[in-house]
Amino acid sequence: MKWVYIEDLPKHENQRVEIRGWVYNKRSSGKIRFLIIRDGTGYVQGMIYSNKKDSPLFEKFDKLNQESSLHIRGEVKKDKRAPGGYEISVSDIDIIQIAESYPITPKEHGTSFLMKNRHLWLRSSKQNAVLQIRTEVIKAIRDFFDNRGFRLMDTPILTPSACEGTTTLFETEYFDQSAYLSQSGQLYNEATAMAFGKVYCFGPTFRAEKSKTRRHLIEFWMVEPEIAFAQLDDIKKLSEDLVLYIIERVLENKKTELEILERDTKPLEGVKKPFPKLTYEEVLEKMKEKGRKLDFGDDFGAPEETLISKIFKQPVCITHFPAKIKAFYMQPDDKRPDLVLGLDVLASEGYGEIIGGGQRIHDLKLLKERIKEHNLPEKDYAWYLDLRKYGSVPHSGFGLGIERTVAWICNIKHIRETIPFPRLLYRIYP
Ligand code: 4AD
Ligand code: MG
Repeated sequence: MKWVYIEDLPKHENQRVEIRGWVYNKRSSGKIRFLIIRDGTGYVQGMIYSNKKDSPLFEKFDKLNQESSLHIRGEVKKDKRAPGGYEISVSDIDIIQIAESYPITPKEHGTSFLMKNRHLWLRSSKQNAVLQIRTEVIKAIRDFFDNRGFRLMDTPILTPSACEGTTTLFETEYFDQSAYLSQSGQLYNEATAMAFGKVYCFGPTFRAEKSKTRRHLIEFWMVEPEIAFAQLDDIKKLSEDLVLYIIERVLENKKTELEILERDTKPLEGVKKPFPKLTYEEVLEKMKEKGRKLDFGDDFGAPEETLISKIFKQPVCITHFPAKIKAFYMQPDDKRPDLVLGLDVLASEGYGEIIGGGQRIHDLKLLKERIKEHNLPEKDYAWYLDLRKYGSVPHSGFGLGIERTVAWICNIKHIRETIPFPRLLYRIYP
């Protein structure tokens, strides 16, 4: 008999199939027994019917508990009332293992307990839905860049130098040298962009950030496009198109998961081009109107980001930041050299920054100065400086954080649920 996945049941109406999965729940009602089975792709109800109390199927049913593994065989029936719209009229059960008493029950558990049991918590329907949406987000991002002719360039994880400042570096031994885990693939992508025109990298990045907030992970995934000859305006448009495309794809392909999460999709459906576009100083003005006073040079923290998203309702593009709050490689504004052509995109609904990037310095002399000002060892950046010696051109790019984007789309409070095994400030187990 054919082994099929629950998500494919609509293709097998009235056929006999085999499902391989785990017991999610069970209940009895008179002569009928109901088994809810999950197989990772979905949930289906199996119906076992018998006139005899001692039917062999009922005996097997009685032995099963939550997370016991099994194969069931039976006929696929359409039923509007069933979750997923189909159920199985069960004719056979093969038990593979009777599970030990499962620690995660339908009752409420504390976060610390769930995090300690993350390897099991992943099986819960909400966690499953969040991570299926993550899969779609990643697929959408890849399609977006691949369809636009970007070349995928994988950048190294072990690196000899810093990209995003030296305070958040993870140091490790590299034979007789030191190495750092990558904070961003950007610097390497500036090299590949000069070789391939437009590129993106997509990988894990690491920040030894002592921040214990709902938006910070120690290890997170970032997609980073980089384009030779592109200027700030070009990547503003690109970032807007990317965010819209991701949302469209999730709304189109992950309806069931959004329903499981009880995500009100209206705010996502309402995300439209063009996003409000402001300079850092314009944002300061807007916040002042709302009674929140910041000085020039103050960085936006979570309360400011929340306020901004309340004012605008849409994702917001912010540019022209004070140079002193941004990284060493940012191109200054021609007319206001105290400002740099950085770009941040803040998600709506209070989710804060999901994209950071900007236009890069392409002038050799200026870049050398900035490296010195930031107390970075010039010799480690010799190869990076070479890019400014041999056909240097304006170029721009950005990084979008996958987990923050998924948290926003799923409307979940904490970023820790958006990656299978989150690395947090005080947690590396499991
Ligand atoms: O703004 P960031 O630090 O920018 C860069 O790393 C640039 N080098 C990218 C580039 O231009 N190629 O980080 C980019 C994004 C943030 O907007 C955020 O979404 C995410 O990465 N991010 C984090 N996500 C989770 N936990 C953290 N600790 C994060 N730090 C940054
Ligand atoms: Mg940033």
